[in-house]
Amino acid sequence: MSRLDSFIRRLEAQRLMLDWAAAQIAGRPGLVLELGLGNGRTYDHLREILPERDIHVFERDVGPNPASMPPTGRLVVGDMATTLPAFATRHGRCAALVHVDVTTGVPQRDRILFAWLPEHVAALAAPDALILSGWDLEHAALVAVAPPEGVSAGRYFAYRRAG
Ligand SMILES: C[S@@+](CC[C@H](N)C(=O)[O-])C[C@H]1O[C@@H](n2cnc3c(N)ncnc32)[C@H](O)[C@@H]1O
Repeated sequence: MSRLDSFIRRLEAQRLMLDWAAAQIAGRPGLVLELGLGNGRTYDHLREILPERDIHVFERDVGPNPASMPPTGRLVVGDMATTLPAFATRHGRCAALVHVDVTTGVPQRDRILFAWLPEHVAALAAPDALILSGWDLEHAALVAVAPPEGVSAGRYFAYRRAG
């Protein structure tokens, strides 16, 4: 499969996963955390499908499409290795949904480069919260759940926060 095909499938999987997650968390209180603003595409989708939710976005190099800039107070600027634990200190296990879109595009590299990330995600996820990621997260408190129909195995990952 060409990288173009792979990229298209990744975006299709992202949309399916985000739509599915929005339905899954209906009726559950909690913040939505978007890890990686980038161009702002998935943030824009999240705010469209979850208009009532408080969505906080984490990013080191802020430069999205101007139409997708989060409002003041909802963008946490800095290295997530620092900003995520600081946010957890202030808000505790506050999130109903965490979308991990921090990636180099190479999952094998991400697992090593972002080995510190799953711990911070687990510390922010409320009991039974849903966590989505483009690469597999390894943490004892994150229990893998099957992605929705249409997302092939290994394309995108979903977890529930145990306990
Ligand atoms: C794949 S892009 C996000 C794409 C975005 N969700 C979208 O749909 O347009 C990943 C983003 O994570 C950010 N990032 C990577 N490592 C980071 C870190 N340690 N702290 C904060 N942001 C980081 C990068 O700057 C990049 O913008």
